[in-house]
Amino acid sequence: MDFADRARRVLPGGNTRTTIFVPPHPPYAVSGEGAVLTDDTGHRVIDGNNNYTSLIHGHAHPDVLAAAIEAAQRGTAFGLPTHAEVALAEHLRDRTGIEQWRFCNSGSEAVLMLLRAARAHTGRDLVVRFEGSYHGTGDALVSPDAPGVAPSAVLVLPQHDLGALTAAMREHGDRVAAVLIDLMPNHAGLAPADPAYVEALRDLTRQHGALLAIDEIITFRLHEGGLHRTYGIEPDLVAVGKVIGGGFPVGAIGGSAEVLAPFAPAAGAVSWGGTFNANPVTMAAGLTALTLFGTAEIAALNQRGDELRSRLRAEGVAVNGSGSLLRLMTPDPTRLWWDLYRRGVLIGTNGLLALSTAMTPDHLDQIAEAVTTS
Ligand SMILES: Cc1ncc(COP(=O)(O)O)c(C=O)c1O
Repeated sequence: MDFADRARRVLPGGNTRTTIFVPPHPPYAVSGEGAVLTDDTGHRVIDGNNNYTSLIHGHAHPDVLAAAIEAAQRGTAFGLPTHAEVALAEHLRDRTGIEQWRFCNSGSEAVLMLLRAARAHTGRDLVVRFEGSYHGTGDALVSPDAPGVAPSAVLVLPQHDLGALTAAMREHGDRVAAVLIDLMPNHAGLAPADPAYVEALRDLTRQHGALLAIDEIITFRLHEGGLHRTYGIEPDLVAVGKVIGGGFPVGAIGGSAEVLAPFAPAAGAVSWGGTFNANPVTMAAGLTALTLFGTAEIAALNQRGDELRSRLRAEGVAVNGSGSLLRLMTPDPTRLWWDLYRRGVLIGTNGLLALSTAMTPDHLDQIAEAVTTS
């Protein structure tokens, strides 16, 4: 029996993540080392997916692995807080300037926690988000028409339409807890938001007493403090994930002590548990991964991404993105995915390509060659 047939018997569709599914079914991964992943047929590919941008140093980076093993040897989870979560929160504060943090296990969960924070802080119910931006799996964050989704107090506006945003805020502004934006939304084409629009958004939210909440779950890797820093704006809340966990499950929100105050246990406070929140293995691996990814490393990786994008564009390839995140624009992403996979490059199922520090110039040449000849 084909392994996918066996998998389909116990997992609907044969796996657990819609976002990694390619028809008829994706290959199954067996191992990864640096920039290379090996599947269960022994096929080796350069990993340009990096678990949807989260493996900033590729697979099994020796220092990240050592930090995780050392933490795991001391115990993988406790019914007490640990020093490790304080250390990662301090690191995030120092690199972003954002005062306080709260950890969870995925980006989806972080966005839900962010919405809870915004509603608890403002005492308002409505959230504004933008069509086509992906913020994970929460009911409020997917299409309200999708099966199984319960109605939420969410207003979905078109991307980059200042007129629509201004009108919506004029009409509903006093009910809006937060406007949630991803400044370079992958599912909407990985095009960076226009700075004038972002500045106007910041002004509008302030004017109406709503919070500006930025989803940096993919874009955090582009700048030490997150992509918003390149816009020179100050968000009220951010959601992060992916790279901050060193390859382990993670999510977090950051904000001022005032905005996150409702989470501090007290009468009437937000109650938000999580058996594995801030688990010490993730915290240790994340701290090591981020320590190895400072200003110089970020700039170097972004430059490699910019060079690859220029090179692909010069060959006539339609490619969006910024720095170390690229998106190959194609009307048939499944065909491109399989074509590149067979040629030895793994990308995201919608054409996303995320570089890692484990990639050598030779890997980047091989990626460019595969993309331009596919
Ligand atoms: C911008 C953005 N927000 C939220 C999420 C959800 O994160 P997770 O898959 O860790 O739940 C993702 C995942 O790709 C994302 O890209």
